[in-house]
Amino acid sequence: MQFFIDTANLGEIKEAYDLGVLDGVTTNPSLMAKEGISGADNVKAHYKAICNIVDNNVSAEVIATDFDGIIKEGRELAKIDDKIVVKVPMIKDGVKAIKKFSSDGIRTNCTLVFSAGQAILAAKAGASYLSPFIGRLDDISQDGLDLIAQVRHIYDNYGYETEVLAASIRHTMHLIKCAEIGADVATCPLKVIMDLLKHPLTDSGLEKFLADHKKANQ
Ligand code: G3P
Repeated sequence: MQFFIDTANLGEIKEAYDLGVLDGVTTNPSLMAKEGISGADNVKAHYKAICNIVDNNVSAEVIATDFDGIIKEGRELAKIDDKIVVKVPMIKDGVKAIKKFSSDGIRTNCTLVFSAGQAILAAKAGASYLSPFIGRLDDISQDGLDLIAQVRHIYDNYGYETEVLAASIRHTMHLIKCAEIGADVATCPLKVIMDLLKHPLTDSGLEKFLADHKKANQ
């Protein structure tokens, strides 16, 4: 399973990249706003800065919601760097735009996906990635992981090449369950990636190894 980090914070992206396990980055307009990035030129420069840190797969989201606007904005985003994946919302004009980008060889990430029906549409339009939001489904008392399993099953039935990119991951169990189900990618905050390191028996075991080594070498 590939690991993407879900942030626009350059420090966090560097930290995850330095760990050696990062395969990409996802951003969205809220994450860009959180970093205080505004204005088209600043936004483009920030995406370029992200591309300069990682090896590939930087999702940059369009703001336009009409077909012509999505196409224009998506093409501009794609020009920033070959690593850019144009992130398009799951709306009618978004699906049309994904189909167009797919025929033009521009990679896409279909975002704001909350149902299997939406997942089928995105795959048929030729999306490179599909982003079902697990945590936000959990928030409304629907099991987000059930959707990941359902989409995995459907995509495998038909050999759809769209990669399942589990998003809105809130904790390590989400990530581990996604790996069990067979999601192609999980995008999550830095904290979730770092939390994978933690186990109390690792900490106590290391403490004892170091203490024993010290005693033996006094
Ligand atoms: O980037 C999309 C998604 O991962 C957002 O997650 O935590 O805002 O629901 P969250």
